[in-house]
Amino acid sequence: MDPVHILGIESSCDETAAAVVRSGEELISNVVASQIATHQQYGGVVPELASREHLRAIVPVVRQALADAGKTYQSIDALAVTQGPGLAGALLVGISYAKALAFALERPLIAVNHLEGHIHAVLLEQRQKGNRELRFPVMALVVSGGHTHLYLAEQRRESWSYENIGHTRDDAAGEAFDKVAKLLGFGYPGGPVIDRLSKHGDPKAVKFATPQIKHPDRKDSAHSSQTFKSGAPAPAKKDAHKRESWGSGHPRPDAEHPRFDFSYSGIKTAVLRYVETNNLAPSIEFRRTALAQVSKPKLEDYLANSDKQTLDLVASFQRAMVGDLVAKTLAAAREYAVATLFVTGGVAANNELRQTFEQEAAREGLPVYFPSRPLSTDNAAMIAAAAYPKFLAKDFAAMDFSAEAGMALK
Ligand code: KG4
Ligand code: ZN
Repeated sequence: MDPVHILGIESSCDETAAAVVRSGEELISNVVASQIATHQQYGGVVPELASREHLRAIVPVVRQALADAGKTYQSIDALAVTQGPGLAGALLVGISYAKALAFALERPLIAVNHLEGHIHAVLLEQRQKGNRELRFPVMALVVSGGHTHLYLAEQRRESWSYENIGHTRDDAAGEAFDKVAKLLGFGYPGGPVIDRLSKHGDPKAVKFATPQIKHPDRKDSAHSSQTFKSGAPAPAKKDAHKRESWGSGHPRPDAEHPRFDFSYSGIKTAVLRYVETNNLAPSIEFRRTALAQVSKPKLEDYLANSDKQTLDLVASFQRAMVGDLVAKTLAAAREYAVATLFVTGGVAANNELRQTFEQEAAREGLPVYFPSRPLSTDNAAMIAAAAYPKFLAKDFAAMDFSAEAGMALK
């Protein structure tokens, strides 16, 4: 089959992105215009400003992605755009533009779920590296500013199916990183700063009590007598082979299995209590003011404005977050007897998270894959890659489709 060049467009949150991907396996160009500078002063993404910035950036970003790929508009085989989940106004900018282009160029348009995109970021790069050994099913942790979701992903011929087996009950993991960083005067977004600062603190200094981070796993089946402690490894099901199989002999997600939910609003409150109890407010205010005067603060600037107690708090917070994400994901992987782990989304860029996943998964003999850091956070290459199987299946969007802010992945 001839190579298929898909132009991907992503505008679900605060990044305007366009990319060209060949046949779901080769990244040809990848352009991301970040709006961080616009939202930084508000300490988080302001939806109206995001839409306005997408409107400004979308045309030059797409043009740049085509130029970098050495492609003309006419030489693109199909377009792909994020339909949801995300901010409705932001999504509509990408969707409207993609529809107009598809109409004018007479090319098919493919609507992609943003979360499926994060999963395909891993697949794209593994294919690009020539890895044809991936085994299924996959347990994918999508962990970002808006999501902390566990999916069982299975490939049947060209098409993919997903089962959500757990998600956050309140804050997403990235949201907790961002809120804690904001609370401590480190600005927005918080994940990358906490990541770098954590190496300079003692992760054992502050203890977070279990209920502050653990969420009991849900059993959908009311008649079931088994309960699992969150974070603790779920016992392997001895009778798994008797169950209806999902994919190649793996237990099927159903009411018999616990769900692996997350909860991160408690730890954020625990950090706030720590700040109050230890009277850290004056030093936080001092840091906030000092960092506001630096246009692009570097690690040295953050360190120069942080005492040991704050660094210890940051390192302990990250350790607790990483510990919960890894333990819960591995427990889910055992429960569903998966062959492979994917960890993707903005928080997957975190160094301690990657290292801990690598160590713990190796202990269980489970291969774990991450996207490269540029493809961990929002981008359009993942959207173009996720669109390829849909292109092969001729799963094209009708021209009247709209944004779906709360779109679920199935
Ligand atoms: O996937 P993404 O770009 O956007 C969403 O779909 O939400 O993820 C952004 C999130 C932010 O919360 C940001 O703080 C977090 O990912 N993040 C990190 C790191 N880099 C980005 N969190 C922890 N460590 C990092 N290195
Ligand atoms: Zn995302």
